Amino acid sequence: MINEVQIHDMLAKLFGHLEFTKEPAGLYDPLRYMIGLGGKQIRPRLCLTVYALYKEKFGEEILQPAAALEVFHNFTLIHDDIMDRSPKRRGQATVWSKWGEDTAILSGDVMCIDSYKRIAKAPAKVLPQVMDLFSTTAAQVCEGQQMDMDFELLAEVPMSEYMKMIGLKTAVLIACAAKMGALIGGASKEDCQKLYDYGYSLGLAFQVADDYLDAYGNEATFGKPIGGDIVNNKKSWLTTRALEKADDALRQRILDVADMPIETGEQKAAKIAGMMELYEKLHIEEDAKYEIIRLTDKALESAATVATGVRYEILRRFADRLVGRVK
Ligand code: IPE
Ligand code: IPE
Ligand code: MG
Ligand code: MG
Ligand code: MG
Repeated sequence: MINEVQIHDMLAKLFGHLEFTKEPAGLYDPLRYMIGLGGKQIRPRLCLTVYALYKEKFGEEILQPAAALEVFHNFTLIHDDIMDRSPKRRGQATVWSKWGEDTAILSGDVMCIDSYKRIAKAPAKVLPQVMDLFSTTAAQVCEGQQMDMDFELLAEVPMSEYMKMIGLKTAVLIACAAKMGALIGGASKEDCQKLYDYGYSLGLAFQVADDYLDAYGNEATFGKPIGGDIVNNKKSWLTTRALEKADDALRQRILDVADMPIETGEQKAAKIAGMMELYEKLHIEEDAKYEIIRLTDKALESAATVATGVRYEILRRFADRLVGRVK
């Protein structure tokens, strides 16, 4: 079996040498900028980690599909930052705020295409399954992102709808990363499904943690301004839970805060403070931490059906690191 140090080294090598087209610079510079900012690379890491459960050493066959997951993820982030009006990511200016929306749309598009070119390099034997998995996932991410935007306009969404939305916008890509590693690693159909389930629950935990950090994180480590979800009336796990828990009076106060103006910096700060006070009254922070643990445990239950001993430990450590994140 391949160990975690080898996975770490392989990721560094892979992303140290990714080749992209250079001209026209207006199209490819933003792509290189975004990839160069270097995220946590959890999706390719998960793909390699699952592959490692089945293989004695790395083959070329897994490298480009793993890279594809990261390129595709970065494409979704470039477009997500336009949709969410986000000024900062990974501690730096977002592509749209640096180059404008038109460039961000087109550079994002070319990254999506680049990811397909890399996916197409999967071994011929599993290529139809890999292609189908990746395309289905990509469409689901779009569906989730549309739901996320639709929800901004609603006063309230049921928790079940929130879960469905984050399942689509975030969890399916993490599940896809796990399943892709399994498919290319030669796992059985049953194992592929169980590892997909592991990735899916982990993805849900990851998005709840992202929502949590958006309110309770530290900008220096999180890399995104704190309170962005509150300012934009995002239906985060925190707001959804708060509305679910509140009595009529508190409910009205939450809805009033959501209607507060956000034209100036002071107004934004007042809105964030107003919502945080209500979260505190309702003990939402504690609930979120509990939910992240619950979803992670669910992922580990799936992991236990597919791996034991050292192999299970690898999946457990990956999960712990993912949800114990600060960024
Ligand atoms: C951010 O993803 C978007 C979400 C799904 C929460 P990551 O937190 O994986 O972003 P990077 O790639 O590490 O910056
Ligand atoms: C991101 O959700 C999901 C996708 C990019 C598909 P968020 O909008 O919460 O991600 P951040 O917080 O901007 O990274
Ligand atoms: Mg978003
Ligand atoms: Mg966003
Ligand atoms: Mg977020």
